[in-house]
Amino acid sequence: MSSPSSIQRMGQLSALVSEKTQILTDFLSTKEGPNASSLSSDELAGLPISPDDSKTFKARKLESAGLGSTDQLSLQVIWEFRIAETVPANDSITYDEISAKVQECTGKVILPFQLRTLLRHAMTNRVFCEPQKNRVAHTQMSRLLATNPKSNAWVGFLTGDLFPAFANVVAAMETWPGSQEPNETGVNIAYNENLPFYDFVQLDKERAVRYSRAIESHGSSEGAEISHGVVDGYPWADLGDGTVVDMGGNFGYVSVAIAEAFPKLKFVVQDLKGMMSAEALASVPQSLRGRVELTIHDFFGVQPVVAKAYLFRHVFHSFSDKYSTKILQSLVPALKRGAKIIINDAVLPEPGTLSYINERSIRTLDVVMLTVTNSRERELDDWKDLFLNADPRYKFLRAWRPTKSQLWFIEAEWDP
Ligand SMILES: C[S@@+](CC[C@H](N)C(=O)[O-])C[C@H]1O[C@@H](n2cnc3c(N)ncnc32)[C@H](O)[C@@H]1O
Repeated sequence: MSSPSSIQRMGQLSALVSEKTQILTDFLSTKEGPNASSLSSDELAGLPISPDDSKTFKARKLESAGLGSTDQLSLQVIWEFRIAETVPANDSITYDEISAKVQECTGKVILPFQLRTLLRHAMTNRVFCEPQKNRVAHTQMSRLLATNPKSNAWVGFLTGDLFPAFANVVAAMETWPGSQEPNETGVNIAYNENLPFYDFVQLDKERAVRYSRAIESHGSSEGAEISHGVVDGYPWADLGDGTVVDMGGNFGYVSVAIAEAFPKLKFVVQDLKGMMSAEALASVPQSLRGRVELTIHDFFGVQPVVAKAYLFRHVFHSFSDKYSTKILQSLVPALKRGAKIIINDAVLPEPGTLSYINERSIRTLDVVMLTVTNSRERELDDWKDLFLNADPRYKFLRAWRPTKSQLWFIEAEWDP
């Protein structure tokens, strides 16, 4: 629960936003010429405010929106030089001391003046603070980097591994216009590699671990939990004692959670060979081994299991339309009339219909998918088109987002 002071602070902030917005709108409504109070595409690219209009000038923050790359940079430096670990938990430290500690812990050199430049920039994002001139202390955000390995991995993956890839997306688009291939991306140019992203990640053990942890950090975030997202979000009981094939089901943790709640259902989890380690096999509880089977199957090959339903959780967003269509077509030989295709994945909202934070999060994921695999998140109509283009005998049934879940269910049926 929020403390009284953080609630007071939120109240103060919302009053401040309201006050600054009023200053801007009052000012802009007095201006003549092109519609100064609009930011739509055919209006002004910037706000016509000169530094002489000092009150209004200070209220303007919109132009900082293009500066995200420097946010990435200061965070990358913090992560790469393990600066969060050098700052004491409940005390402050000078730039000179941080510099010395970084060298001691990592063997890398970063000079105090460089630290001052980069950390003071990060502080504008509430990462570290300077309670006294030239003394650095933790904020809640910087502390997470030092104390939470999953958050640390998420930051490392985005700012360390993906930063060069983001910078090369345009080059990839120019080199391979309109590509749907998973190995013609910003990652491929940045790292001079010909492999699809998921294979590339496995080349470096440290990066593979970081990626796994980062995904776990993202996957266990609010709204992505298995319990109320998947288990409570679909009418599994309607499938009676049927079999569900969990395609790209990893080590089966989703099937295990559903099987625990629905004791009549059976699950065949399919994934690539590399996923079926002894550790994965051992992760299925003894009591469920008769109903949850982990198997190897590449979903681009013909589906061998005839079942009542086929579940794809978080699979299609990693594949462009070209390959998603192939996955659905490979399923066809196993399908009997009425078989259900159950997709649990993101659905892009109409612009401006979610809260700012939620919209930004899903738009970011969309950009990440473009960057790493040439795939994308999909709007509801895109999902419908995917079924239609794979085979018109797929009949789209419905789509819904369970309460408290970020992922949707999208359901289709085989209707030959
Ligand atoms: C993002 S994970 C989703 C895992 C799981 N469904 C979940 O909800 O957490 C995508 C999964 O697809 C698997 N996968 C990728 N390519 C595959 C293929 N060609 N055949 C089968 N599984 C594949 C990956 O190994 C991975 O486990």
